[in-house]
Amino acid sequence: PKQSEENLRSPICCIMGHVDTGKTKLLDCIRGTNVQEGEAGGITQQIGATYFPAENIRDRTKELKADAKLKVPGLLVIDTPGHESFTNLRSRGSGLCDIAILVVDIMHGLEPQTIESLNLLKMRNTEFIVALNKVDRLYGWKTCRNAPIVKAMKQQTKDVQNEFNMRLTQIITQFKEQGLNTELYYKNKEMGETYSIVPTSAISGEGIPDMLLLLVQWTQKTMVEKLTYSNEVQCTVLEVKVVEGHGTTIDVVLVNGVLHEGDQIVVCGMQGPIVTTIRALLTPHPMKELRVKGTYVHHKKIKAAMGIKITAQGLEHAIAGTGLYVVKSDDDLEDVKDAAMEDMKSVMNRIDKSGEGVCVQASTLGSLEALLEFLKSPAVNIPVSGISIGPVHKKDVMKASVMLEKRKEYGTILAFDVKVTPEARELAEELGVTIFTADIIYHLFDQFKAYIDNLKE
Ligand code: GTP
Ligand code: MG
Ligand code: NA
Repeated sequence: PKQSEENLRSPICCIMGHVDTGKTKLLDCIRGTNVQEGEAGGITQQIGATYFPAENIRDRTKELKADAKLKVPGLLVIDTPGHESFTNLRSRGSGLCDIAILVVDIMHGLEPQTIESLNLLKMRNTEFIVALNKVDRLYGWKTCRNAPIVKAMKQQTKDVQNEFNMRLTQIITQFKEQGLNTELYYKNKEMGETYSIVPTSAISGEGIPDMLLLLVQWTQKTMVEKLTYSNEVQCTVLEVKVVEGHGTTIDVVLVNGVLHEGDQIVVCGMQGPIVTTIRALLTPHPMKELRVKGTYVHHKKIKAAMGIKITAQGLEHAIAGTGLYVVKSDDDLEDVKDAAMEDMKSVMNRIDKSGEGVCVQASTLGSLEALLEFLKSPAVNIPVSGISIGPVHKKDVMKASVMLEKRKEYGTILAFDVKVTPEARELAEELGVTIFTADIIYHLFDQFKAYIDNLKE
């Protein structure tokens, strides 16, 4: 084999689709975990990452193809939310990946965020496969746990097969209306032009071997150049989180290069570039989700591609969705700082220039952008005077209280998925600042809308 074929990194695969099509459940099925049931409201509101080593993929696919050649070290899968509020997280996920799984619920067909995801993928020219999920919901489906799909399909009655074919035909037509040719993967003779559909069940596992093998084979066959490991560090911050015992940490996806403990790094921060040093490089165990609390494995260095939790000082104001830069010995630190701050500009442009408006606070840049997007929409149209990422502190309440004299209703903090410190809560009470908190984004919208409507009356 050529040199380049021997040094492949793990493909990064993003799982996308409409809310509740079963994205997280599909990953749970592969991992043998139960992440989905632990989610608030059963919906995903953050980006996650899971590393699947090649040996696990081999194990899961051996019934389908015992002698499959896996040239990639594994697969790094990124979970994204399907709820409409999180367009920017879907965009972030799709921007990072080499290939995507577009999940469609066989009982529902194409839905609004299926089409939105499709457009994100088209825009970036990203290859994808379709997981036609929830086949077990076909009336009369006979469970064939974790079986390859052709084998499972043969076990079904004529009625089940007919219903499957009818729904499949409808969905192929819906894709056609979006300008795409799709076909069952094992009938697809022109992969690349016609997108492959893999029927799956996240509950009983039928079709999972097919989905995994297709992803690995397709990426290592057609993306050799893109997947050839490069030493140049390419890294994106997925989320910023406080973790007990570790302080503020960042979850990152390392696409290329190596990170070391002790590396000097620069990330984009709310108050300017953050220059710091990597204190610890942590990963969850293989087959475990990065966004779920658990035990971490410590590393001296980590090679791409991988989902990593980084601990370092001064990360409190780091912004998710932005790049992480390593300062090399011959770099000019000022240049690296400038590069790191580029991503912040679009968010800053959202703040009302008049200085009048509510304060918005969220756990990540992603959710902050989602909130700002909502507040800006014509139906809502609420100006924003200040933004912040992370817990609500006394200083945030002070800032919001300034607005009470100008427009009483704007003396408000909308806090999504962040804690309010007891001191901040006390001060808000004292000053008359209203704080709305929620961990489900549309609940926050509902509360605030009711509050505004109330004031208008
Ligand atoms: P968001 O992340 O919120 O967009 O949803 P999701 O696409 O990750 O879907 P999730 O994994 O949360 O599953 C939604 C619901 O569908 C849950 O109640 C799952 O148990 C159920 N579900 C998912 N996959 C299947 C499947 O293959 N068969 C059946 N019967 N139910 C499924
Ligand atoms: Mg989910
Ligand atoms: Na869900």
